[in-house]
Amino acid sequence: MNSNVKHELLKRLFEANGAPISGQEFADEYGLSRTAIWKYIKEFEEEGYEIASIRKKGYVLLSSPDRINAANIQQHLKTDHYGKIIHYYESCPSTQLIAHDAAQANADDGTLFVAEEQTAGKGRMSRPWNSAAQKGIWMSIVIRPSLMPHQAPQMTLVAAVAIVRAIEELTGIEPTIKWPNDIMISGKKMTGILTELQADPDRVKAIILGIGMNVNQTEEDFPIELKSIATSLRLEGGQVVDRSRLIAEILYYLELYTTMYEKHGFSPIKLLWESYANIEGKRIRAVMLNETIEGSAIGISDDGLLELKMDDGSVRAIFSADIEI
Ligand code: BTN
Repeated sequence: MNSNVKHELLKRLFEANGAPISGQEFADEYGLSRTAIWKYIKEFEEEGYEIASIRKKGYVLLSSPDRINAANIQQHLKTDHYGKIIHYYESCPSTQLIAHDAAQANADDGTLFVAEEQTAGKGRMSRPWNSAAQKGIWMSIVIRPSLMPHQAPQMTLVAAVAIVRAIEELTGIEPTIKWPNDIMISGKKMTGILTELQADPDRVKAIILGIGMNVNQTEEDFPIELKSIATSLRLEGGQVVDRSRLIAEILYYLELYTTMYEKHGFSPIKLLWESYANIEGKRIRAVMLNETIEGSAIGISDDGLLELKMDDGSVRAIFSADIEI
């Protein structure tokens, strides 16, 4: 089976937006038999698509399953580059590892790696990341921005702002950002971001941006140890969210804000970030490798560091920590 033709057929069915696609015309265009097209249609049905066959007119796509695949994402895509190349996996150990290898092998800017399930998902500080099948968004994007290596950590904040904006646009839910890389709703974590770097001393070669989002989990889907600290969009909004659309929306804002960061520096991102994080004046405990400190939040610095005002009036800028508010 030629997967490119199959992909193109699905894309046409989506693009037709409820109008019929002639099996004969499509077969002629690709030099195939009508039976070959019919076999593709049967495969789509087995994958959960609902397709009506109308005599003398062709095939109409009635509904698509809640599955993440390249065609489902690409029909919603509004970007120039991001998501134009998508590698999809039913199950893989970690999209982050695959994306790293691909970046080293020259993957294009904006190449997306997305999985329905990860068997060895990884979080910050080498913690495991729960990536249950068909419930969340587990994806890594290779980005090649024109940045110096010291500007790379701020990409976590760029991504956080893009994700919050995308969620707001699509669901109306208003999450908050917890520095540096967590997206929270009702005090529970719904998204984590893992930013990794491939760089020469004077330039970023690639940023591997890993995003793990809890989207359609119900209470029972979370393992016991996560129940009190994790949440999903479905739990908060009461509705199943179309994950492919959400991915397309995130890619759109990620491209927009990355370009903004490249062109105008960190100031506009900082403003957006502070409006979504709402931490100014809040009492914060920062747990670092060697010490734990407490102070009230001032905001973030131009380098994306968290600034705390200590009780003695001094200011501490924090590079990396787990924070408790
Ligand atoms: C965190 O610790 O908060 C960051 C979690 C990042 C998880 C994502 S899921 C997709 C990508 N693949 C991985 O193995 N990790 C990242």
